[in-house]
Amino acid sequence: MCGIVAYLGPKPAFPIVIEGLKRLEYRGYDSAGVAIIESKGSLPDELVVRKKKGKVSDLLEHIGDEKLTGNIAIGHTRWATHGPPNDVNAHPHRAGTDRIALIHNGIIENYSAIKATLNQRGHSLLSDTDSEVLAHLIEEMMFGSELDLFDAVRAALKQVVGAYAIVVIDKNNPTRLIAARKSSPLVIGMGEDGAFYVASDATPIVSYTKNVVYLEDEEIASLDLNEGLRIRTITNGEVTPEIHALEIELESIEKAGYEHFMLKEIFEQPQSIRDSIRGRINLKLGEVKMAGIDDHWDKWENASRILILGCGTSWHAGLVAEYLLEEFTRIPVEVEYASEFRYRNPIIRPDDVVIAISQSGETADTLAAIKTAKEAGAHVFGVCNVVGSSIARETDSGAYTHAGPEIGVASTKAFTSQIAVLSMIALHVGFRKGCLPRERFTRLLTELNGIPELVETVLKQADAIDEIASKFDKAENALYLGRGYQFPVALEGALKLKEISYIHAEGYPAAEMKHGPIALIDDDMPVIFIAPRDDVYEKVVSNIQEVKARGGRLIAIVTEGDKDVAQIADHVIEIPKCVDALAPLLSVVPLQLLSYRIAVLRGCNVDQPRNLAKSVTVE
Ligand code: G6P
Repeated sequence: MCGIVAYLGPKPAFPIVIEGLKRLEYRGYDSAGVAIIESKGSLPDELVVRKKKGKVSDLLEHIGDEKLTGNIAIGHTRWATHGPPNDVNAHPHRAGTDRIALIHNGIIENYSAIKATLNQRGHSLLSDTDSEVLAHLIEEMMFGSELDLFDAVRAALKQVVGAYAIVVIDKNNPTRLIAARKSSPLVIGMGEDGAFYVASDATPIVSYTKNVVYLEDEEIASLDLNEGLRIRTITNGEVTPEIHALEIELESIEKAGYEHFMLKEIFEQPQSIRDSIRGRINLKLGEVKMAGIDDHWDKWENASRILILGCGTSWHAGLVAEYLLEEFTRIPVEVEYASEFRYRNPIIRPDDVVIAISQSGETADTLAAIKTAKEAGAHVFGVCNVVGSSIARETDSGAYTHAGPEIGVASTKAFTSQIAVLSMIALHVGFRKGCLPRERFTRLLTELNGIPELVETVLKQADAIDEIASKFDKAENALYLGRGYQFPVALEGALKLKEISYIHAEGYPAAEMKHGPIALIDDDMPVIFIAPRDDVYEKVVSNIQEVKARGGRLIAIVTEGDKDVAQIADHVIEIPKCVDALAPLLSVVPLQLLSYRIAVLRGCNVDQPRNLAKSVTVE
């Protein structure tokens, strides 16, 4: 949610910042901007700001042939919170004297009070944003209190309530960047040539350096070509920077010949699931290795309840996990939207185990919910994809999904990797607790280990799914229905369709259809049933008949060889036979492909759907 990038070093800064913005565009894309300090030889340096509503490409068009030269620049791609997406509200923001420029990700909650005070003191603010007040506040600290930039930023941040990741430059200090964060991520890259990079995540940095420092909450960093990197807390405490090695590779954040990141990521699933289970399942020994659980086994063994927290697709993975964990561990499970959980005075007990699921590891609501759970004494286990992310660091222990970078805003491979990891957790805990007999445990592990090949089989039907998609791209609504393990898949299928094609879609438990959604069914209504041959198959077939009787256009996801549903449905997509508990890993794949192709046929921007952002770092 908003992408931040900055460069300071020996190279021309503008191309590096633009390249970084393109990589970060999945975080927000309603406006983009850069600020650069241009050296004017014997004349004073100039702070040049160029910003534009729209995408990075619109910014580049706006800049045209103008040469923006300089070795220090900041860039921003915005997901609007305060004020509509327009040129004025785009970042960077300057303060009155045109000396400093600032980019911000997050929300300054007390901005209107600060703005009123600034107005009274004669500042004139141009935008509707909360961010601009920070630029003015910093400027006031510099001139009013004669603080240097670092201390001025620190003093200004002390007055701020809310979340921020900011980078500030001062044209009188062209060898220095100031960066600070609270509840919004920032990574600092340290180039071998002495250059500094700052970004919301590592994707703009990885092509230049693998040495990074993750800024922690309420820390402020001075990146200075002469003095190096210095970090302090907002309250001026000493911090020793810890350098980490980035694990992502450049190829993993490029499209590799695919039309879109989403399609690439759908096709990566056999590999990403393999990566999620690699080193964790040992079929020879018949065991799962998960240090994050084993090192805290007393918590799991004595857990009276498992509470799962997440948002969006991660919440759907949590629902699948509820079925898995209750079936295999017999521990009661509750799944909560992190955003609701944190504001409703929830009951949390010290013998609760909380599983927080997040692809990005930065979702503000999930992060805040974790803090609530920790304060109440619960043990918090993270299932994150992004290594080193805030949630991964905030949790007591956890397991990375290792799906690799997911760039498409609609989550695909992260979802299946989350389910793969959550399946391993359920099987491991169930076995260790004695709820799962060895023979069944080993059989399930073997099945899970074989899932990547089965996903490959599903992907081979992509052309047939495209053909089906071409019959539904004019739809205005769609209903997704499933039961048992397939109910969360129905929710996820509907979410995928609405996110990227803007077709209104709902997911429902198939049996609940009779209590409302059946009223929507007419000859035009596409109804997608997820109906593999599982425990509730017969029941779902009855539900399919009920829709058929009312004229719905039926697509069904079925187990290969199914003849019964094939006779009723207009279109069927087969998935290989597999145990009920693992079938979501297969059945969601055709739904991803269907949504993808429908969105492409409708001319939608699949990787960057309107109004959405990949990583929601504001409440
Ligand atoms: C956003 C993304 C979704 C994602 C959700 C939760 O809405 O667009 O794809 O599922 O955030 O994100 P997380 O990173 O916590 O899984």
